[in-house]
Amino acid sequence: MRTGAKCVVAVAAALFVAGAAMASAQPEWKAPADAKAMKNPSPKDPKSIAEGKKLAETNCATCHGPEGKGNGPAAAALPPPKPADWTSAKVKTESDGDIFWKISNGRGAMPPWKHLPDKDRWALVNYIRSLQK
Ligand code: HEC
Repeated sequence: MRTGAKCVVAVAAALFVAGAAMASAQPEWKAPADAKAMKNPSPKDPKSIAEGKKLAETNCATCHGPEGKGNGPAAAALPPPKPADWTSAKVKTESDGDIFWKISNGRGAMPPWKHLPDKDRWALVNYIRSLQK
């Protein structure tokens, strides 16, 4: 009984410490290797990019800003990690599959967008790429 209670306390304390650590310094957000290697089936043509832009204006701009720089009106109120700057060197070096997976799964304040059809999520990837020129 006593060890059981101690155990619960220890687990609760560990969770608390983990929670505090996560709030201050999020570990790097990594997609699984197979997701990273995923090939983008949508050509980066003007049509797909225009679709992505429209989707981003509707769903993402409040946090990521009108040009994807991570400075949308809701960004200031969010605790770190802040909405990503899609034009940053970090996002530039990520594979299409990596970005697609992150859009699909979300993390913390970043919502998951799995409910959007695959085609729409790849259009968002193509739009993000078009901003990185
Ligand atoms: C409610 C605010 C919010 C909305 C809306 C939102 N995001 Fe995010 N996004 C975030 C935050 C916060 C992060 C950083 C998450 C982290 O690092 O843990 C993020 C991170 C990302 C990243 C990861 C960049 C990287 O590689 O580290 C991508 C890509 C992204 N968002 C795309 C989108 C797209 C596309 C949409 C719209 C379909 C969207 N986001 C909508 C808040 C938001």
